[in-house]
Amino acid sequence: MGRAYKVEGGWRLKGRVKVSGAKNAALPLMASSLLVEKPVVLENIPRVRDVKTFSLLLEGMGVKYEWISPSTLKLDASTLKEVKAPHELVRAMRAGILVLGPLVGRMGEAQVSFPGGCAIGARPVDQHLKGLELLGAEIKVERGYIYAKAKKLKGTRIYLDVPTVTGTENLLMASVFAEGETVIENAALEPEVVDLVKALKEMGAEIEGEGTPTIRVRGVKELRPITHRVIPDRIEGGTFLIASALTKGNVLVEDIEVGHLEALISKLEEAGVILHKENQGLRVSSYSRPKAVDVRTAPYPGFPTDLQPQFMVLMSLAQGLSVITETIFENRFLHVNELNRLGAKIKVQGQNAIIEGVPHLTGAPVMSTDLRASAALVLAGLVAEGETLVGGIDHLERGYDDFKGKLRELGARIEEVEIDENH
Ligand code: EPZ
Repeated sequence: MGRAYKVEGGWRLKGRVKVSGAKNAALPLMASSLLVEKPVVLENIPRVRDVKTFSLLLEGMGVKYEWISPSTLKLDASTLKEVKAPHELVRAMRAGILVLGPLVGRMGEAQVSFPGGCAIGARPVDQHLKGLELLGAEIKVERGYIYAKAKKLKGTRIYLDVPTVTGTENLLMASVFAEGETVIENAALEPEVVDLVKALKEMGAEIEGEGTPTIRVRGVKELRPITHRVIPDRIEGGTFLIASALTKGNVLVEDIEVGHLEALISKLEEAGVILHKENQGLRVSSYSRPKAVDVRTAPYPGFPTDLQPQFMVLMSLAQGLSVITETIFENRFLHVNELNRLGAKIKVQGQNAIIEGVPHLTGAPVMSTDLRASAALVLAGLVAEGETLVGGIDHLERGYDDFKGKLRELGARIEEVEIDENH
């Protein structure tokens, strides 16, 4: 038996929703606790499965963790004894690769399971390994594990072939103690990278250029414990903005950094959705059928690939033809077949999805394939006529903190049910 969300379509979302802390900032920040010999306190951590998995991964290495409030996590790596990140945890959550950089940086060695691909792509880590080798680490990949060893890391210049988010984060954490200066060229600009650098500088690291393609790190002797508040989750916030527009609702999405969502905001406005800044958030209201707009995903500040499936649901109901081009991951259209089961008219040609807007969707059982696809299918259920059963919600719970509860607060009809996934 599997767990599913049963969603009854046709209810406009109304009210206000508070966005949780960013999963993709929380994970590297949790990894950075490995660099400090005293407890680090992280506030505004989302209660999502990936954070739980990461906590177990760190605990397995000897790091003590404690929730000192519902969203405040204390991590104490003073008792760090293991440099191994086991296969079963890294397989469950590829972001486990984020312990590689800090372990090499602080301990001079690491043994991290080589993260396999996932539904949306091969997810290579060649740039992570290239950067560590340039810093002086000896890297071997054997029997599914990455073995890294380095007596002393020496600062150097690293040019990244792609602006990899976790690759930039790993190399930043590896270089904070390296001798001399490390320059990372073609670094990722994502807000989650900038948040990690903010925390590292609070710890005493000497870093500049975050948020630009060239980040410079000067090695220091040690880092000190801090308390740091994680930035809001722009992907969760964007998901709720789209959900409100989809249902022709009127929702205030609070605790978001509007500046982190410029690409989505401009696309929603192009589609005719009305957005207003209000308090610490954005009120989104939409009473007309969205206009078809083309989208091309790109590294930050471009349109985020993590909002591509959700935006596709909006375009499936738009007036006219739109094209969504996915440039980041090679297989991130797995939600298309499921949306077509609900009556959407979407054709995939290579990295393009061509969407012919339809007047309405109709509910049916659908299956999630990955984290953001599952969120997109729930959004489709909110507007599909009748009942939609979204299976595979384990994917969703990896990255959304109480998604069902927040949607119910806004008036959605959604509940959890058991389904027999075999048919
Ligand atoms: C991060 O993944 C996010 N995860 C992803 O969010 C997000 O989709 C992605 O960045 C892009 O924004 C976390 O931060 C934990 P990349 P990451 O390395 O770092 C290629 C979600 O839904 N590449 O920036 O793994 C790679 O194949 C998840 O929350 C190399 O070629 O993404 C991809 O095409 C999904 N070699 C592109 O770069 C490398 O060494 C971007 O990957 C590394 C990456």
